[in-house]
Amino acid sequence: VFAEDLDASKSVAAEIANLIRQRAADGEQCVLGLATGSTPIQVYRELIRLHREEQLSWQNVVTFNLDEYFPMQPCAAQSYVRFMNEQLFDHVDIRRENIHIPDGTVSSESVNDYCQRYENLIEAAGGIDLQLLGIGRTGHVGFNEPGSERASITRLVRLSEITRTDAAKDFGGLENAPRLAITMGVGTILRSRRIRLLAFGEHKAAIVERSVQGEISNSVPATYLHDHRDVTFLLDAAAASKLN
Ligand code: F6R
Repeated sequence: VFAEDLDASKSVAAEIANLIRQRAADGEQCVLGLATGSTPIQVYRELIRLHREEQLSWQNVVTFNLDEYFPMQPCAAQSYVRFMNEQLFDHVDIRRENIHIPDGTVSSESVNDYCQRYENLIEAAGGIDLQLLGIGRTGHVGFNEPGSERASITRLVRLSEITRTDAAKDFGGLENAPRLAITMGVGTILRSRRIRLLAFGEHKAAIVERSVQGEISNSVPATYLHDHRDVTFLLDAAAASKLN
């Protein structure tokens, strides 16, 4: 628990930077799993600063984003491709071919094959070294909504009404908010070697409490993180306020 969200963000950015540098020193790639949404923005800001001011190179970094709305054009204002470019990738020296974000333009008929290929790409990269997560008010990680299974892999999912309501402001109303998304599965996330979940603000306090103190259950997918061997929840005081 950190006094301010900025402290938590800087802490996880420093961990990511150390990992990137360690891997580079060993002549190896660093595979990062990344999240979108409002929560990780300050992490990305700090990583950009480290690139600019402290020579943090992204040449050896490979990234896999958790999710994307479906369908979604990459150039659309709400796309996660656009978000990642604006918040991080356009400001660091990452190789474009090392960036992976689920493709919201694949056809409904080919989406299952596409999702399997996304899994294969993660495996071929050697698996994810560090996965950054936010958490939704439903307890979703990625877009694994309540009901998601522990062994689930990358797939097309239906978004819950709460998640659609939270997205509505970006889409000019609930009626325009997407109903579907492609997301890494719970199983995909749990295969990451390290998991760092960030949650900030009073509106996350209730779900943080259920995620941390509740039993493992598919009704709060974030509880699946309990039996991972290297997981940390980084919280600000407001998000931690219901923990005892
Ligand atoms: C985003 C993602 C989601 C968000 C979650 C919280 O890639 O996978 O699980 O992390 O919905 O969103 P914010 O950070 O906007 O509160």
